[in-house]
Amino acid sequence: MDRGYIYVNKKSFINNLQYLSQVSKKTICLVVKANAYGHGIKWSVRNAREVGVEWFAVASIDEGVQVKQEFKDSRVLLLAEPSVGQLDNILKNDLDLTVYSDSFINALIDTGNQYKVHLKIDTGMHRIGCSPDKFDYLFEKINDSNLSLAGICTHFPLADTDKGDTQNSIDLFKNTISNVDIDNLLCHVDNSASTFYNLDESFNMVRIGIAAYGIEISPIKSENKLLPTMEIKTRISNLQHRKKGEAVSYGKAKILDRDSVIATSPIGYGDGYPWNTFPDGKVIVKNQFCKLIGRVTMDQILFDVTGLDVKVDDEVTILGHSDDGKLNISVSDVAEWNNTIEWEILTNMSKRLERVEVE
Ligand SMILES: Cc1ncc(COP(=O)(O)O)c(C=O)c1O
Repeated sequence: MDRGYIYVNKKSFINNLQYLSQVSKKTICLVVKANAYGHGIKWSVRNAREVGVEWFAVASIDEGVQVKQEFKDSRVLLLAEPSVGQLDNILKNDLDLTVYSDSFINALIDTGNQYKVHLKIDTGMHRIGCSPDKFDYLFEKINDSNLSLAGICTHFPLADTDKGDTQNSIDLFKNTISNVDIDNLLCHVDNSASTFYNLDESFNMVRIGIAAYGIEISPIKSENKLLPTMEIKTRISNLQHRKKGEAVSYGKAKILDRDSVIATSPIGYGDGYPWNTFPDGKVIVKNQFCKLIGRVTMDQILFDVTGLDVKVDDEVTILGHSDDGKLNISVSDVAEWNNTIEWEILTNMSKRLERVEVE
């Protein structure tokens, strides 16, 4: 081992996709933006295809191209309107577009090409999407044009915390499209959280990200059916004895309150392990939690191994279970130590640590 590995677990990922398909009873559109939440786009697409997933959602054309390179016949949905200057690229790579603005739709029509589009309605997120009162106008415009309407969609701002607010968005969405024959259209509104409670059969596709990667995010619990798909292991790269009253790492942020044995591991914020993990964060060595003892640096962390029988090259668990299975560090733990959300922890994992598939 050089610096460390990100182990991506195929069996857990497939378990999650099959479970989500069974719970939702809808077509799964797997969200693979941001390097598939840090897991690797090609890895995620390859394994998802094995269990019949055909739809993938991305945030950039480059991500869409990566999906198509893996499986040309996948359907790929770009989640926001790109710049008009990119339209040739969209056509060449056969990407589906999310659309919502009059000017962008006009630009698509002006090309004379048959772009596949999903019309997005803003039902409360207030980020992108057409206002409900513009829906009929845009719907008619698309239907009367060379464009091919593949779906209608929306996105929720509070799916993981507020079912009531989400229901208001669902009601607004249904009301807005009530005059439309949706038989041959994809209707997709759910993300991971709402997939567990919005079992409305008038929708036929769900856009799932974080739950596929094993993170419990819904107010409705999955009863441990979702399995974490990522573990991160590194090694002890240095050991030093330091005296009470000394401090280690930048800023000398913590004065040692006893003579200590300090271990170093070659992982840092340059790998996506967040700077704010100190002072609350821990790692696992020899089936014991060890507290970070100084600030996270770009390439290395330091933690307290006083009293443990350790040597250079011993394994260090950054994310995942101890060898004996009794201790665990979850993505939610790391997010909590950093006062952030699970999505940010996963998507920031950089490409410097090699991804290794395990089953
Ligand atoms: C439009 C859209 N749909 C679906 C998702 C997937 O959300 P989640 O990871 O919570 O399942 C995202 C994630 O950011 C999104 O932006």
